[in-house]
Amino acid sequence: MTSNPWKNYRVEIADGVATVWVDVPGEPVNTLSRETGAEFGEVLEALDKDPAVRAVVLASGKKDGFVAGASIDMLREVKSAEEAAQLSRDAQAGFDRLERHPKPVVAAVHGACLGGGLEWIMACHYRVVSNDRKTQLGLPEVQLGLIPGAGGTQRMPRLVGIATALDLILAGKTVKPKKALAIGLVDESVPPAMLLEVARARALALADGKRLRPEPAGMVDQLKKNPQAALQKLALEENFVGRGILFSQARKQLLAKTKGHYPAPVAALEAIQAGFEKGMEKGLEAEARLFGELAVSPVAKELMGIFFATTALKKDNGTPDPSVKGRKVESVGILGGGLMGSGIAYVTVNAGVPARIRERDDAAVGRALSSVAGIFDGRVKKRSMDRLEKLSRMRLLTAGTGWEGMERVDVLVEAVFEDLKLKQEMLRTFEAMNPHGIFATNTSSIPVGEIAAASGHPETVLGMHYFSPVNKMPLLEVIVTPRTSHEVTATAVALGKKQGKTVIVVGDGPGFYTSRVLAPYMNEAVMLLLEGASVEDIDAALTGFGFPVGPMTLLDEVGIDVGAKVAKVMHGAFGERMAVPEVMGKVIESGRLGRKNGKGFYTYGDPKKKVVDVTVYDALPGGRTRKKIDRQEIVERCVLQMVNEAALTLGEGILRSARDGDVGAVFGLGFPPFRGGPFRWVDAEGSAAILDRMRRMEARFGLRFRPAPMLVERGAADRPFHE
Ligand code: NAI
Repeated sequence: MTSNPWKNYRVEIADGVATVWVDVPGEPVNTLSRETGAEFGEVLEALDKDPAVRAVVLASGKKDGFVAGASIDMLREVKSAEEAAQLSRDAQAGFDRLERHPKPVVAAVHGACLGGGLEWIMACHYRVVSNDRKTQLGLPEVQLGLIPGAGGTQRMPRLVGIATALDLILAGKTVKPKKALAIGLVDESVPPAMLLEVARARALALADGKRLRPEPAGMVDQLKKNPQAALQKLALEENFVGRGILFSQARKQLLAKTKGHYPAPVAALEAIQAGFEKGMEKGLEAEARLFGELAVSPVAKELMGIFFATTALKKDNGTPDPSVKGRKVESVGILGGGLMGSGIAYVTVNAGVPARIRERDDAAVGRALSSVAGIFDGRVKKRSMDRLEKLSRMRLLTAGTGWEGMERVDVLVEAVFEDLKLKQEMLRTFEAMNPHGIFATNTSSIPVGEIAAASGHPETVLGMHYFSPVNKMPLLEVIVTPRTSHEVTATAVALGKKQGKTVIVVGDGPGFYTSRVLAPYMNEAVMLLLEGASVEDIDAALTGFGFPVGPMTLLDEVGIDVGAKVAKVMHGAFGERMAVPEVMGKVIESGRLGRKNGKGFYTYGDPKKKVVDVTVYDALPGGRTRKKIDRQEIVERCVLQMVNEAALTLGEGILRSARDGDVGAVFGLGFPPFRGGPFRWVDAEGSAAILDRMRRMEARFGLRFRPAPMLVERGAADRPFHE
């Protein structure tokens, strides 16, 4: 029997079991809202009254997803902390009713079961999941600046233990079926084809009063089985002194890691602790209150903003015309299998697209292949992939010293040395053998138009600027010249997304967007160094602002020589305002290249201890006695440089939107995510206030702080960049 009076649910009753399919209409994935919650209450009530129903199975009507979480649109519209707290209380009450439902409810999960979805099934009486790679479970709320608000901070630690719950909730981690089973988050993991059958059988068994879970093992048995884990549990989780230690250690680690910038994990910890010290009811109260406060906090606003921006980019084909379709990409060629080329090969075959690398000689071919295999091996070791999967993906990769095969590839990504003549030569050779193929250069600094000047049909030429390490960095900057065709742009954007990247499309010019806004920021840090600031102070000021590493460390990582080369290019392109202090030449001449030769602003002898190499000051004005420069001033000067340059690129049309500029800086340069990106940061501070600070800097330092025309325009009206 099937009855369908509900919008978001379908109910099918057979042999005493009601299967409830959640299926939010018109959406690719299920998300939870006030409406899905209220309707579910009605469904349960109806099933309670129905004598034909002895047990219930909860499943998803979507093919490959269970529930992705609460609707973020709903969360974003919340106006006050109290309104958000009430939302949380209502959700808690709904799941509480589910838990107390007189008929057993068994969850049958296939696909992503995240946030509110996991909180939902934790309130069910039994949980079966499919052992499929698409199935994953977790409470990722902290990544949006929130905490689980529907009982998750209470039910998860009760299911899996405090230490495991802290590990998962405070970092917003997700787990696969095998791990979920091992930690006790779910009861069974079965092949997808058997999911519903098993769930229905278990639901009926529960209705018959059968016990499906073994009695929890007593301490003696636990000690016999795994003495170390049992002792740790006894010492830390099962008594209040131990728990106190567990919580206070977790808090200390959190504060060290988040530097106080991310309040959500700390709040989650507080809610979990309240639940253990004062009982579940008080724990739920704390959860709702903290959820409410966080939902309207500036940090959550920015993190949700980034989430929205990346979601919007997923739907964007990268051109002004949404109807443009990219070409089908069935194979990719890669020229140069060095650091970048091998990373690009990895993300390509990992996405299931065959790739072929061309290198200069056999030794380089061997190195390229083994570095791709090495990335896969790392994943096998971490168990995020098994050996067979690795082999099937490596089989998609070939490499050689000749051009054979390149006449057939749909896209060629060029990642040879950074040399205009060499790149143009590659382009000519490719075009001669593959007149229709797309040529994408991974140059980090040469304007794409200069490379395309060697082309007979520049509409097929563009830039695909990946970031190092390619397998980890989430951003791809696609660079189009005025002649690149929309079809070619859409093809590169779609390929990048397939490779797992967040893709922004920018106009051509020196440094494109990311390298361009980084240059004046780095220059300013060097200026501060010349004025006498210490390396430690500069780095600490900017990590204090929220960058993952400071500019001096970054220069060491990138290579001081590479940094100087880019700076020279930028100076040439933008003139006086990007002048590089000459003294940097002396630093390089003294044999200091950064981490790669073990000699930079820091010493690299002991990998655990990072100390400034004071001898670097001998080449700098002021020598080893450094001046104290206020950290606020350091932050202000460096960040204003980046923000102003971003406003220039927006005004010049290099950037299509402030949104892209924010996403590019956060994902490509490590701009603090909780500040939302350079444009969001200006909006939060107020464009008039930022303009005022720029003018004061201009009065002190001159040209390099001249405000961008767009900043002047916004600032004069105190209008934000994001309207
Ligand atoms: P790399 O030196 O590690 O790799 C370059 C590879 O190209 C070498 O393995 C070399 O043998 C090969 N090669 C040179 N000439 C060749 C030819 N004629 N045919 C085939 N292979 C040839 O350099 P990396 O770092 O991978 O840089 C490659 C490109 O990517 C450069 O244009 C660089 O500016 C750009 N890039 C580098 C980033 C980085 O962080 N290293 C970031 C973004 C872009």
